[in-house]
Amino acid sequence: MRLHVVDHPLVAHKLTTLRDQRTDSATFRRLADELVTLLAYEATRDVRTEQVDITTPVSRTTGVKLSHPRPLVVPILRAGLGMLDGMVRLLPTAEVGFLGMIRNEETLQASTYATRMPEDLSGRQVYVLDPMLATGGTLVAAIQELIKRGADDVTAVVLLAAPEGVELMERELAGTPVTVVTASVDERLNENGYIVPGLGDAGDRMYGSA
Ligand code: URA
Repeated sequence: MRLHVVDHPLVAHKLTTLRDQRTDSATFRRLADELVTLLAYEATRDVRTEQVDITTPVSRTTGVKLSHPRPLVVPILRAGLGMLDGMVRLLPTAEVGFLGMIRNEETLQASTYATRMPEDLSGRQVYVLDPMLATGGTLVAAIQELIKRGADDVTAVVLLAAPEGVELMERELAGTPVTVVTASVDERLNENGYIVPGLGDAGDRMYGSA
């Protein structure tokens, strides 16, 4: 697994406002959307392209376009939905799939409760969206589901990560073609599983409800 922490003053500025408990839901959604677009810029650095010939008003030239098969963007329900627009804004040709993940509170194992995406992901570049990489259980289970379907090029875009989640991903997904792109790796998880200092419950902050 490869970890890429995006170091940019605009990313740091937006993240700081997202962290601030005084930021209301409408502002939170807008800033999360903008932050995802900045992360998407880095996350798509290796997106596949093909050469095309075009004619400008002045001359013929050669350029590049996003190639086929189309990239697949997969938000993890619920909070990943708040990242979808920011991601597909930069990837207009992307197809969108959905993964609903739930954690069994006794075994703490994450499993899939809803799936909407192509059966065969071989040869596809897949971008998974989940705002918080906390324990890592959900993201690991989601990526294992994608790999089971043949995905061989997976990038997870997360707003914030905890070291515990990064370690779990490194352990469970060792040797797999997975990249994590994030704005920050914070200090730790607290006893309730929240990232410290973090930004609280991302879903609640986005949607203003529990
Ligand atoms: N999920 C959240 O929304 N926030 C955290 O801090 C951890 C997990």
